[in-house]
Amino acid sequence: MNIRPYKASDYSKVYQLWELGHLTLGSSDTFKSIERFTQMNPSFFLVGEIDNQLIAVVMGAFDGRRGYVHHLAIHPDPKYRRHGYATMIMQELHHRFQTHGVEKVHLFVERNTPEVMEFYEKIGWFIRTDLQMMSYIPDSDAYHTSKTSSKT
Ligand SMILES: CC(C)(COP(=O)(O)OP(=O)(O)OC[C@H]1O[C@@H](n2cnc3c(N)ncnc32)[C@H](O)[C@@H]1OP(=O)(O)O)[C@@H](O)C(=O)NCCC(=O)NCCS
Repeated sequence: MNIRPYKASDYSKVYQLWELGHLTLGSSDTFKSIERFTQMNPSFFLVGEIDNQLIAVVMGAFDGRRGYVHHLAIHPDPKYRRHGYATMIMQELHHRFQTHGVEKVHLFVERNTPEVMEFYEKIGWFIRTDLQMMSYIPDSDAYHTSKTSSKT
């Protein structure tokens, strides 16, 4: 798999991968929002291609103190899932975080996806039992997602 940084022309293919992965999508995932994200995180937003087909995506981010991982997805075709591609793109992201001196990285996993937790645990992530996530929405008119129960 060829891994490279996301570019604007990937948007529709990337969005389709997220839909195929049943990720919660919304106002933070419009073309404009994703462009803003890319400008802030040019080195950490990665895609993976096989035979010129985009089959992997992960949005890495760094806020100057902590790293974050959002919207990891591998194309659901059985010829792509469970072949190590998510591990591969996460390894590349891990390498980039290390190179940029990022000391700790967080991510959010929906509670109803034990297989996703299994994946992350397999590649060395651990569940925090000492923290509870809290959120705040500065502009509830502007913000919306495909699920009302999940607002990450
Ligand atoms: C989770 C996901 C990214 C894993 O991608 P993948 O390329 O199939 O993962 P890998 O092949 O690198 O898996 C590595 C290991 O993780 C674990 N794993 C991966 N998928 C799993 C599953 N569905 N059930 C149980 N364990 C799983 C296994 O231990 C696997 O090793 P093995 O295949 O040798 O047993 C993929 O299933 C996906 O895109 N899911 C939908 C989108 C999503 O939920 N993203 C997460 C957002 S937080």
